[in-house]
Amino acid sequence: MARLAVVGVGRIGGEVAYMASALGIVDELVLYDNVPDLLKAQVLDLHHTGLDITISTDRNEIAGADICLFAAGLPRNPTVKTRADLLDANLPATNDCTSFLNGFSGILITVTNPMDTNNYYLCKKTGLPRERCIGFGGQLDSARFGVALRHRNISGIPFVLGEHGEHQVPVFSRLPAQVPAPLRNEILSELRGSSMEIIKGKGGTVFGPALHLANLVRMVLSDTRELTICSSVLEGEYGISGCSLGVPVRIGREGILGIEEWDLDAWETGKMTAAGTFAKNLCSKVVS
Ligand SMILES: NC(=O)c1ccc[n+]([C@@H]2O[C@H](COP(=O)([O-])OP(=O)(O)OC[C@H]3O[C@@H](n4cnc5c(N)ncnc54)[C@H](O)[C@@H]3O)[C@@H](O)[C@H]2O)c1
Repeated sequence: MARLAVVGVGRIGGEVAYMASALGIVDELVLYDNVPDLLKAQVLDLHHTGLDITISTDRNEIAGADICLFAAGLPRNPTVKTRADLLDANLPATNDCTSFLNGFSGILITVTNPMDTNNYYLCKKTGLPRERCIGFGGQLDSARFGVALRHRNISGIPFVLGEHGEHQVPVFSRLPAQVPAPLRNEILSELRGSSMEIIKGKGGTVFGPALHLANLVRMVLSDTRELTICSSVLEGEYGISGCSLGVPVRIGREGILGIEEWDLDAWETGKMTAAGTFAKNLCSKVVS
């Protein structure tokens, strides 16, 4: 029996609830949304799958879940240029989430943007250990990096560290071939714009985040100890503290089991330092 709570069952939250159930990763859901009609519709739609799952909409049961996925709040639209611009708009939803987590002993996965700042904020406000606060975004950014590399016939495993936003840090130094700075900058610029293309065309991203999130839920519940990229509250790793950023982590039943500190080259180190400065500044606006 594995229980997944989802706070905010819109595009992403609803799809992850569906996908994690359909893939047999969870069999109990606790769903909450502050739009009652949407919540009711999502519950009905899930029941009509015929899957053998139990669904509660009692928000008091969120704290008893194995995993709580925080996906409530506004997504970007073509007039909201960066994820960081969503900070003030999504703070009320983030605060609501803290109120559901009294006595929570599971793993918190933060999706809502600006994801890194919200992960840091939730970690500090709830007092949860940083290991149990996982920010989601790095897996998606890494998959997008993989697409950009394949289009250019560049082989290797794609990893993106840093902020889930304008300050992402694609890691080129671990690829088999050298990639010169002008091409790196071209790819970085493409990565920064990739989700806005989807937002303009269909209102928001769904398939990529939902599949990677379902997979992240599986990694936790099955204690896979796989290496992946997630946002973690940093305490000196990569010379950064006072914020949460995407770093290489091992994920298991206890959450973030460890952070790997990779050797980065000068281009990447510069970008990672800039990401740290940016993220720390944003976090200091919400956590004193
Ligand atoms: N980290 C990532 O990789 C990633 C990827 C995609 C989207 N996102 C972010 O995830 C968030 C959700 O995106 P979406 O496309 O699902 O948006 P959406 O509008 O489809 O869904 C958000 C849901 O949150 C609900 N909500 C708002 N405030 C609430 C509150 N206080 N309590 C409970 N529910 C509340 C809304 O009613 C809505 O159903 C956005 O911030 C988006 O930018 C992050």
